[in-house]
Amino acid sequence: MKKKSMRIVSGKPTIEDSSIDSNLRPKRLNEFIGQEKVKDNLKIAISAAQKRHEPLDHVILYGAPGLGKTTLAYIIAAEMGVSIKVSSGPAIERPGDLAAVLTNLHEGDILFIDEIHRLSHTVEEKLYPAMEDFVFDIFLGKGPAARSLRLNLPRFTLIGATTRLALLSPPLRDRFGVTYHLNFYSEAAIQTILDRSAAILKVLVERDGLIPIAQRARGTPRVANRLLKRIRDYAQVMANGVVTKEASLKGLSKLEIDSVGLDDIDHRVLHTIIDKFNGGPVGLDTIAASISEDADTIMDVYEPYLLQLAFLERTSRGRIATKLAYEHLGLLYKKDAQPQPTLWNQKQT
Ligand SMILES: Nc1ncnc2c1ncn2[C@@H]1O[C@H](COP(=O)(O)OP(=O)(O)O)[C@@H](O)[C@H]1O
Ligand SMILES: [Mg+2]
Repeated sequence: MKKKSMRIVSGKPTIEDSSIDSNLRPKRLNEFIGQEKVKDNLKIAISAAQKRHEPLDHVILYGAPGLGKTTLAYIIAAEMGVSIKVSSGPAIERPGDLAAVLTNLHEGDILFIDEIHRLSHTVEEKLYPAMEDFVFDIFLGKGPAARSLRLNLPRFTLIGATTRLALLSPPLRDRFGVTYHLNFYSEAAIQTILDRSAAILKVLVERDGLIPIAQRARGTPRVANRLLKRIRDYAQVMANGVVTKEASLKGLSKLEIDSVGLDDIDHRVLHTIIDKFNGGPVGLDTIAASISEDADTIMDVYEPYLLQLAFLERTSRGRIATKLAYEHLGLLYKKDAQPQPTLWNQKQT
């Protein structure tokens, strides 16, 4: 637990990010790099809504931490030319909190609820009529004297962000018009993001200086920007402020992340599966217990990138370390050496 806030390759925001985030955050859709499919669909949805003079359909943005969900929510508001109010699942504790948020909206506004999968059940149920019919029912008093009061809300667009789509209850999911899934970025896209960030931060970069960073950024813009900032500091002290490829590589090795961006915790996850459980399958809770992390954190933060690298496979019987993972760690993949009896037998008959 203690380590989490210090983890340099975590997609989750840290305090040190907040100052760079606002500078580097793209403000309009044409500055938002990558995620072409999402952008294409969004452009169409936005211009259609504008032609109809209607608010946009409610939207879910789904993807691992640091991939641009919050950024996109602000961009959608800017492109629609409306204002955005921001809240989050854990912040809206009671129906009264939701009422306060909803009655504060104006016609066409966007309400962004981060971590929407963490809304409580009672709040969620109050959200349904708000999303569908733009009304909010308040119940006053108890027993025979009870009355209900219906508040009419302005027509608004709800944008919900989540790292865990599966935790969203089906009735809530059904009330969203669209789900946009943000994927990890390609190395080329991360390179473009780094070029842009370096220009904004006025970092002196030599050709190829950003390549090692792009390779270790875990396909995650937030991690890329954070690494860039660290390497800028390193280069200032060690290389006259110029981010050369060499300075970049040296600085990155000091941060103890490997050639594909894995840190100590990722290594412990993989080694647990390989060394203790012979490569798996092994259940998530067992892995979590072995490395003293909570299962949710592993699923949210570590696992998505290991799956993306195809180092890990998720099966119904548990997690399996793949041959690629063994190779990356420099270990012999014993399962290759085993005969494959079924195939061999088939050939015999
Ligand atoms: N497509 C992108 N192009 C450029 N920078 C991006 C992009 N997506 C994210 N970023 C950068 O990464 C940071 C984190 O993005 P954010 O939207 O806060 O992620 P999330 O909400 O998914 O955790 C932003 O401040 C921004 O600087
Ligand atoms: Mg966010």
